[in-house]
Amino acid sequence: MLTSYDMNGITDSSSWDMNADFWDQAMGDDLNEYHRKTIRPYVLALLGPIENETVLDIACGNGSFSALLDRMGADVTAFDFSEKMIEIATARWKDSNVRFLICDAADEDKITQLGSEKFSKAVSTMALMDIADIKPLAKALRNVLKPGGIFVFVTQHPCFITLTDRYMTEHSYEGEALAGQPVKHLYFHRSLHDLLSPFFENGFMIDALWETCFKNKERPEVLIIRAVLAG
Ligand SMILES: C[S@@+](CC[C@H](N)C(=O)[O-])C[C@H]1O[C@@H](n2cnc3c(N)ncnc32)[C@H](O)[C@@H]1O
Repeated sequence: MLTSYDMNGITDSSSWDMNADFWDQAMGDDLNEYHRKTIRPYVLALLGPIENETVLDIACGNGSFSALLDRMGADVTAFDFSEKMIEIATARWKDSNVRFLICDAADEDKITQLGSEKFSKAVSTMALMDIADIKPLAKALRNVLKPGGIFVFVTQHPCFITLTDRYMTEHSYEGEALAGQPVKHLYFHRSLHDLLSPFFENGFMIDALWETCFKNKERPEVLIIRAVLAG
């Protein structure tokens, strides 16, 4: 059993900076097989039409999903708090129209400054479990999404995938997103209540979800949710 820690608002991009090259090599231009089979088709289905939409990609990593949305005709802004990830994404996707920014998902003011009601859609793939505090993000999304806008997010399934024995109490623990990554990073476990309440409190309603798993296993590893901002 791994050591678990109380949530203490740690937000440290250094481990992601150290893992950025490894992550980029694993994801490449087209993401890895896990992403392509377990995440991408469901996220695209829940996002719906993409052409001419203004989309915010939160915690974008090496930007491969952001670039896909760009190729599908969206106007994409993407951010990550790891300077190294953004450096890599900017270089890899230099010929795209994606605007890559360094920004912490816990920085409500900086996200809000992107523009009131600027985006019709927001997305975040496999990152909410890596973000120390999701309450500022929920508040910021209420400001930057248009009324009726959607936020599709993908996170590690909190009921089936947590590496400690605590479910009810929010806590963090060290783990690996990819086997063999240079350093471990912190995961932040939240119950379904703690995961979803910040969005309910900011006017979002859930209208669709998927629970998916790699290679047809019976225990879902991934939770994919579409939250709609009340119009
Ligand atoms: C598992 S990776 C997923 C990257 C990308 N979304 C994908 O699906 O390939 C998690 C990403 O979340 C970023 N991240 C973690 N905490 C963050 C925060 N507070 N603000 C912004 N990005 C964060 C990390 O730097 C990392 O790039």
